[in-house]
Amino acid sequence: MTSPAAQQFIERVNDRSLVVGIIGLGYVGIPLALATLRQGFRVVGFDIDASRVDDINAGRSAIKHIPMEPIAQAVAADRFVATADFDRLGEPDALLIAVPTPLTRHREPDLSYVVRTTEAIGRRLRRGQLVVLESTTYPGTTDEVMRPILEQASGLKCGEDFFLAFSPEREDPGNPDFGTSTIPKVVGGDGSDALAMAMALYGALVVKTVPVSSTATAEAVKLTENIFRSVNIALVNELKTVYSAMGIDIWEVIEAAKTKPFGFMPFYPGPGLGGHCVPIDPFYLTWKAREYDVATRFIELAGEINTRMPYLVVDRLATLLDLHGRKNLSDASILILGLAYKKNVEDTRESPSLKLIELIEKRGARTAFHDPHVPVLPPTREHAMLAGRRSVPVDPASLAAFDAVLIATDHDDVDYAAIVAGSKLVVDTRNVCARAGIKAENVFKA
Ligand SMILES: NC(=O)c1ccc[n+]([C@@H]2O[C@H](COP(=O)([O-])OP(=O)(O)OC[C@H]3O[C@@H](n4cnc5c(N)ncnc54)[C@H](O)[C@@H]3O)[C@@H](O)[C@H]2O)c1
Repeated sequence: MTSPAAQQFIERVNDRSLVVGIIGLGYVGIPLALATLRQGFRVVGFDIDASRVDDINAGRSAIKHIPMEPIAQAVAADRFVATADFDRLGEPDALLIAVPTPLTRHREPDLSYVVRTTEAIGRRLRRGQLVVLESTTYPGTTDEVMRPILEQASGLKCGEDFFLAFSPEREDPGNPDFGTSTIPKVVGGDGSDALAMAMALYGALVVKTVPVSSTATAEAVKLTENIFRSVNIALVNELKTVYSAMGIDIWEVIEAAKTKPFGFMPFYPGPGLGGHCVPIDPFYLTWKAREYDVATRFIELAGEINTRMPYLVVDRLATLLDLHGRKNLSDASILILGLAYKKNVEDTRESPSLKLIELIEKRGARTAFHDPHVPVLPPTREHAMLAGRRSVPVDPASLAAFDAVLIATDHDDVDYAAIVAGSKLVVDTRNVCARAGIKAENVFKA
């Protein structure tokens, strides 16, 4: 039996009078706002970045691949507003949190964004509100970190006065097949009321909801998904190194292996792991596991192998330059093709391309980059000194000035045939030239 407060919440979901607050308007928060608006709810978006708030209210694109027109229409219709005024946190009935969860410099969970958001909510919490964390984190965060802050700051009791849940975000930016509303959502509640309320809300927003028994289980689901990716990518990266030494093409192996209709799922090698999730999230579990005296050796090993990849790529580049370009890497000029961590997005967080630039320059070579999605490199935590560098145009004249082109990201809107035709040497870490049907003597896989 749900409580009267939970029943009232669910009725307001059903009649669409419920107001939804979204905290953190980034790669996750904006698509979530769009999905919520699409289903007829009013949305208040919160962000500490005032310029981002202004951009969003003006319908200007904060993130390239996300269409802002529906946001602009919703702002005009008074159904959406973005704000940096956290005193408005009392307005929404549900508060969905999508703030960053990075690692500290010592590679430990940095929950400062979650904690600050929770404190801000706690000071304004009112009876009947549902608070849901969507940020990726270790099992126990919602229960052990958020719940005490909310209860202490508000003097209200979780499960009676307000409700708390965790529902991991599975957004895959740039994925043409799946978006926020077509990806099933896992939901864990702190108590049966919180679960029922969160299930009702997400049930209205996404294609399918999957209840689990606790917030910690829901937190573990998300980590499991990303650890699965990290370990499998490490496995194919290791296999690439072995097969390459044997003269066997890993991509050909994977294409053939994936014809098996069961028991095999293709993962692809690359120059290293990138993005805000897969290189980072597994270490949230590693950190938490220490509290239980449990080692996470698979996770550590996968991290080790994936971290090694850019070094191996640069070694291979040096060898190929030596053999086919008659050039030392230290005297060479290298064009990095693709700066984003994956294709067709502009996100450069944790991108292996940045590490490649760093390693290549450390060996004395000059670098430039071309990326149709990244005209100017934004500041990143690990590579602050690269910020402000600009994408160079590629044409036959400019390509001729480079000793090698290193393909690090396989964006669709690049003319690979023209790149190959105009370059002395092409080192392809994504197998994109072969996939584009290009056969040329100056192309080598890495
Ligand atoms: N990007 C993805 O593909 C993806 C996919 C699934 C899950 N996630 C997870 O979702 C969470 C958010 O990731 P993202 O990629 O959207 O991050 P992001 O950096 O794109 O967006 C986060 C936003 O939160 C804002 N912010 C920071 N502190 C705040 C605070 N105290 N109050 C309000 N706003 C604040 C930032 O200004 C920024 O606009 C992370 O935990 C991430 O691991 C991300």
